[in-house]
Amino acid sequence: MKNEVVIVLDFGGQYNQLVARRVRECNVYCEIYSYKTDIEKIKAMNPKGIILTGGPNSCYEADSPTYSAELFKMGVPVLGLCYGAQLMMHVLGGKVERANVREYGKTEVLIDKQDSKIFQGVSPRTICWMSHFDYISQTAPGFSITAHTADCPVAAAENAAEALYAIQFHPEVLHTAQGKEMLHNFVYNVCGCAGDWKMDSFVEHSIREIRQKVGSGKVLCALSGGVDSSVAAVLLSKAVGDQLTCVFVDHGLLRKNEGDEVEAVFGPNGAYNLNFIRVNAQERFYGKLAGMTEPEKKRKIIGEEFIRVFEEEAKKIGAVDFLVQGTIYPDVVESGLGGESAVIKSHHNVGGLPSCVDFKEILEPLRDLFKDEVRKAGLELGIPEHLVFRQPFPGPGLGVRIIGEVTAEKVKIVQDADAIYREEIANAGLDRCIGQYFAALTNMQSVGVMGDERTYDYAIALRAVNTIDFMTAESAELPWSVLQKVTSRIINEVSHVNRVLYDITSKPPGTIEFE
Ligand code: XMP
Repeated sequence: MKNEVVIVLDFGGQYNQLVARRVRECNVYCEIYSYKTDIEKIKAMNPKGIILTGGPNSCYEADSPTYSAELFKMGVPVLGLCYGAQLMMHVLGGKVERANVREYGKTEVLIDKQDSKIFQGVSPRTICWMSHFDYISQTAPGFSITAHTADCPVAAAENAAEALYAIQFHPEVLHTAQGKEMLHNFVYNVCGCAGDWKMDSFVEHSIREIRQKVGSGKVLCALSGGVDSSVAAVLLSKAVGDQLTCVFVDHGLLRKNEGDEVEAVFGPNGAYNLNFIRVNAQERFYGKLAGMTEPEKKRKIIGEEFIRVFEEEAKKIGAVDFLVQGTIYPDVVESGLGGESAVIKSHHNVGGLPSCVDFKEILEPLRDLFKDEVRKAGLELGIPEHLVFRQPFPGPGLGVRIIGEVTAEKVKIVQDADAIYREEIANAGLDRCIGQYFAALTNMQSVGVMGDERTYDYAIALRAVNTIDFMTAESAELPWSVLQKVTSRIINEVSHVNRVLYDITSKPPGTIEFE
């Protein structure tokens, strides 16, 4: 399946994962590695092509990320994007300088070499996404200029004989109107890829590989009902059937009816054979959370209690050979194993689960996939769409959407309000257009009037954000009519709520969740 691979060398740019996704969208398998990766390792992978990403540095400064010139002499096609393009020129003897003005945003690019392999099918004038201070003032020997803009003499250059291509703009972002065509041209016309990386072949291949690895071993999976763990569990069950046991811990901090919905699909009456065990641990969690108001403490308690509950269940099952984890490719890159712009969210999903279970090996069948690819695999496996397209839900659940102490009563309030909000968002046809949306329970009580009565009740906060990577986010501009409808339904239908607020804070300075 992975006989052909294109490597993305990460120089710290913000779009590096997007580059890999675009290549995979061309049915070519692609992995991201840090620019610090040894050249011998790269050679050993025998890549069909290499793409150098953008990055925040200036390539002519002494301690900026760089790569040895040998990279360009291996006979493997290289495409440099933005910083990658500048670095290619710099390393091979061209010149890069600081421009007077930053070229930023949608820019018209004029293609000077229409018959360039990389610009086949691209219009002579095309809109591209630019973001740079430095510019290539002189191409390296052997290169010719293939595109320019009003402000930028070298928007693209190439040394076709050596299969080296430099593009100053970002073909990987959607603002570049024909960027997909350019990357497609690179992997097919320049690298000569066959394009045999497909989801059905991924599913088939993974099932074969898992069977081989697991043999007659026992497998344990912590199922949360989220997309990643659901797809991992179903994949495992297709591969090893009865040898798999899935444990689903209901911590009482799930969305309304979610525990039952997960059980309906994955439990004994559902379509899969998962040896599904549901642990109803609501009371335990509420007990531990009683009186706790500090956000980090609450998170820790929920995380630790989750491990204890899982551990107890695992003990009942006894030693297993394999523990399944729903790790996906962004987790691998974000935790610094792959790329360079390694960040941040590691605290979110590392729960210490492995150490509490008696197992020999971890299985991570989705380790190579991006989120949208996991979804495709889920559909391929026949998992219902409403589960496959579920929005992200934090591990500590409603615990981080209830400010202050968590109680059963508050959980019910936020569950009911959130259910109404989700229903109305779906009715308005917006459910697949918003990155993440939910109701949270502020700890604020205020005076209101209902009928002729004075009330003193809670305020619900509604949140809806658009985001690409969940690191930054903008508040979504929901239609007023939808907000009004949700507000009036929540006030009418959910007891103890007399006010609804809409949070328009972006991230930063806010976070997506409330705690
Ligand atoms: P924040 O609130 O950090 O959220 O802006 C970014 C994304 O991460 C999710 N999130 C979590 N996920 N455990 C998780 O598994 C957590 O503790 C956690 N906190 C936030 C959040 O839902 C959003 O998608």
